[in-house]
Amino acid sequence: MNPNGALVLGLETSCDETAVALLDGAGSSRASHVSSQEEAHRLFGGVVPEIAARAHLQNLPPLLDSVLDDAGASLFDVTAVAATAGPGLVGALLVGLSEGKGIAIGLSVPFVPVNHIEGHALSPFLDGAGGPSAPVPETFAALVVSGGHTHVFSFEKDRIERLARTRDDAAGEAFDKVAKMAGLGYPGGPAVDRLARRGRAARPFPLPHFKDGSPDFSFSGLKTAARARLLELGRAPAPGISGGPSLREEDAPQGLCDLMADVEEAIVAQLLHRLSRLDEARRIELLTVSGGVAANTLVRERIPAWGRARGIDVRVVPQAFTGDNAVMIAFAGLRRLLTGRTGEGLGAVARSRWPLETLR
Ligand code: KG4
Ligand code: ZN
Repeated sequence: MNPNGALVLGLETSCDETAVALLDGAGSSRASHVSSQEEAHRLFGGVVPEIAARAHLQNLPPLLDSVLDDAGASLFDVTAVAATAGPGLVGALLVGLSEGKGIAIGLSVPFVPVNHIEGHALSPFLDGAGGPSAPVPETFAALVVSGGHTHVFSFEKDRIERLARTRDDAAGEAFDKVAKMAGLGYPGGPAVDRLARRGRAARPFPLPHFKDGSPDFSFSGLKTAARARLLELGRAPAPGISGGPSLREEDAPQGLCDLMADVEEAIVAQLLHRLSRLDEARRIELLTVSGGVAANTLVRERIPAWGRARGIDVRVVPQAFTGDNAVMIAFAGLRRLLTGRTGEGLGAVARSRWPLETLR
């Protein structure tokens, strides 16, 4: 594919965000809209698959119109379509995937099914201000930290290897569960971040280790330990209940802010510990940091500082692209189009699980 004059339409509907974007051949975002369903799921304290799928169906058509409007483009200017095919909620994925295939067939342009995690892993090469993307090197490592994933991958030409994964909860899930126990609502990562800024970390949580010496992550112990600390503060939820009595952030006592700072420290300390181990085993030249948790203040400070100390080029995703978005999907699609690796094309199916390391 020739990048000159290319205009890739990206569609993302894997979870609770409906997103549409247009990306040109230089990797510049021409328009990007994300419609969050947070309100629809808040009542349930988590994402309800059936509600998500229905909301995508409603949101996608008007979102597509407004993105075309924003870019001053017509659907006929689109030269390729990229849509998330997995991993995610199958009913939700089907909405964007089917819409994407339909548009590609209608326009007779190529269709690229995109792996959501590959989208995150490449997102740090995007320019947050809409400029052209940075060149993607042949070899790099990627830390993807979101509500569903905490993974480190190595990218080498067309080979992707998983270097570490979480054995239980994802880092974002740990943020969310602690926030829920503290009565801070869903999703709780941003609330923990804000309270931690008002707190002082003083009582570190233990760093989990595996007997087999694996660099994998584990965050379920932190959740249990945080519950015990909440109990000390008289704020733990009743036994058998995952959510504590609801609390307005402005009413959070100092002890709770300090605890949130300790929780954040523990999560970042574990990320850095595992990254150091991986770098010692096999030198990392460039590391991308992406996913919802990459929006966290301490993550954005500490991982680049760690990289500077070790001579590792750390690229943290622009704040605008930390959460789920369609620019990263269009970008992963563009890169695959340029390297002729468009996978199953129109034959792609929606996959709830789709390990990145199985991609070529
Ligand atoms: O990538 P994302 O939008 O969706 C998934 O694919 O999971 O990530 C959402 C996750 C949630 O767990 C949310 O609490 C977390 O990212 N998150 C944060 C922050 N902003 C979002 N965690 C910590 N600090 C933040 N500022
Ligand atoms: Zn995501």
